[in-house]
Amino acid sequence: MKYKLSDFTLDEKIKLITAKNGWETEDFDGRLYKAVVSDGPLGLRTHFWNEEKNCRDTIPAVAFPSATVLAQSFNTSLAYKMGEMLADECIERDVDILLAPGVNVKRLPHCGRNFEYMSEDPYLSGIFGREYIKGVQEHHIGTSLKHYCANNQEYQRHWQSSEVDERTLREIYTYNFKIALEAKPWTVMSSYNIVNGVRMSEHKKLYDMLRDELGFDGLIMSDWDAVKNHAASVKGTLDIRMPYRSGAFEELKAAYECGELTEAEIDRAASKVLWLIEKCESEKALRKVSSSLDERYSAAEKVAEEGIVLLKNNGVLPIADGKSIAIAGRAVDMNISGDGSSRVVPGREIKKLDTLLSALLPSSEICALWHEVRYENTVKSLETVNRSDVAIVLAEQIDEENTDRFSIRLDPMEEQRILDVAKQNKNTVVVLLCGSVIDVSAFEDKVAAIIYAGYPGAEGNAALAKILSGTVSPSGKLTETWPITAEDCLATRCYRDSMHSIYSDGLLVGYRWYDTAKHIMDKADEARVRYPFGHGLSYTGFEYSGLSLTVEDDNIKVEFDVKNTGNMTSSESAQIYFRKPISAVFRPYKELCGFEKEKIGAGETKHYSVTVPKEYLAYYSTAFDKWVIENGDYNILVGASAEDIRLEGRVTI
Ligand code: GLC
Repeated sequence: MKYKLSDFTLDEKIKLITAKNGWETEDFDGRLYKAVVSDGPLGLRTHFWNEEKNCRDTIPAVAFPSATVLAQSFNTSLAYKMGEMLADECIERDVDILLAPGVNVKRLPHCGRNFEYMSEDPYLSGIFGREYIKGVQEHHIGTSLKHYCANNQEYQRHWQSSEVDERTLREIYTYNFKIALEAKPWTVMSSYNIVNGVRMSEHKKLYDMLRDELGFDGLIMSDWDAVKNHAASVKGTLDIRMPYRSGAFEELKAAYECGELTEAEIDRAASKVLWLIEKCESEKALRKVSSSLDERYSAAEKVAEEGIVLLKNNGVLPIADGKSIAIAGRAVDMNISGDGSSRVVPGREIKKLDTLLSALLPSSEICALWHEVRYENTVKSLETVNRSDVAIVLAEQIDEENTDRFSIRLDPMEEQRILDVAKQNKNTVVVLLCGSVIDVSAFEDKVAAIIYAGYPGAEGNAALAKILSGTVSPSGKLTETWPITAEDCLATRCYRDSMHSIYSDGLLVGYRWYDTAKHIMDKADEARVRYPFGHGLSYTGFEYSGLSLTVEDDNIKVEFDVKNTGNMTSSESAQIYFRKPISAVFRPYKELCGFEKEKIGAGETKHYSVTVPKEYLAYYSTAFDKWVIENGDYNILVGASAEDIRLEGRVTI
């Protein structure tokens, strides 16, 4: 180690664990390297002092699609690529650690930060988090895997206790971290909330689990102003409080002087901060930018292209060249991300959808009715809608950190615009530019097609234009169940007040609930969903065949073939689920344990081969305090979605 603890006084060690300011570690006026951290998961969010506006401002950057859109691609190489591009953005801005990825499980459809997270399934969240971290860190930039843990709502996020049973905590709310930690993130960010009555910024038991059981050997930082009791945080083995706040030093010094805090406890944290500072300094020497700005934008476009989901299509899509098109909506520059710490100021002008569509459909008359088709609709614009062959409505909703949605329906104005357009044109295509699940009941049966574009980032319009025109076939699939109404989601029916959120849904999050209601409890009416986990249409069709299952050492090898039965190239993501019909404990009906996406030419067949580590079949035994892989029979299900199981077989381990 270059920096030795013995070189620092007690006061200096306390300064090390309370940061220098919002985004930097203490450097004692250049005596140490200064490590710089910065948001965020969807693009770099660094700041500068804007003299003109006399305020802190955000430096524009490449705005990537949301984490939801990334995961909907079911293509982990895109997570790696996005990580690489973000590392280059950091290198150019002298940032050492990117405060990302966010992998929290999407338990509640209302959660305002769901757009920053990947899935309702912890395995999928962990895999995408792992590949994202690898992409960033292999370019010598650090990451901060966040937010640890069970931080699944924004309502009262600083004060609300997630009351989670031990097995659910392990199999759902830390399983994502267990998998993502395989990429060895330099840091983990603990979350604002409380878990089972102890604040996460001082949760020694869950920090011990992170370090001693999940093998994390990096630094644990608090979320911003998540620390409410500095001595308790240091005793709870938090390594650094972020950001710097006056009073923190004095509080810790007083705790030391009255004997509440020992120098050894301070040393433990300070030595971890010195480790991180030294790591950033040594890695900096190895950094070099490997991508151009254009490559970053094309990576952002690729993520959007593969992550946008076609939810419904009666055949109106793709739109043929020569068809007249009206585009209505408020989203002139498209809503490219949600609000809060992950919001990115786009580094270049957002290309408009009508311009991009014209380039791909040169014989089509395209009329953009920006801001004209409003609730009190102008007659002229409705006439244009009426006489067009196809009407596209862009519906948007800005979700944001620190706020949960009170409803998962669109704003009434947005719904009304869709209904007004649909009344004028039977070929209405709705494009949802929203952070998370939308209750589409008000218009689902009145429109010809629905596309979920999420927050598709700076190149989202380019991706949308390619999909709408049939230049590419959509291939995204949902990583979160879309219920018919919010109340269908079990978690919304669990007890919650301003201080407590009882996770009485237990393991039954997302598709785990709907499956159980349908197949185990025979409550078909409770099991209905609008669109299931894994749902996503293509412009072609796929036939699955030839399932073969082989048990090898520590893995199960799942092989099968998929044929593209349509007349254009498209990609198909197949999901692998396992089911343990006979088990010593209750198991959800099935659980995701693998997936693979392949691009398949028209009429062609591709061979899929997925290796499922047996450890993914384990359950956590609270009787033995360990993970248990039961012997016996396991069903292996291969699905185009959680409800569209195409192949099923059985293995015995
Ligand atoms: C925010 C977020 C966290 C972010 C941090 C810094 O409150 O919870 O994700 O990285 O503070 O902006």
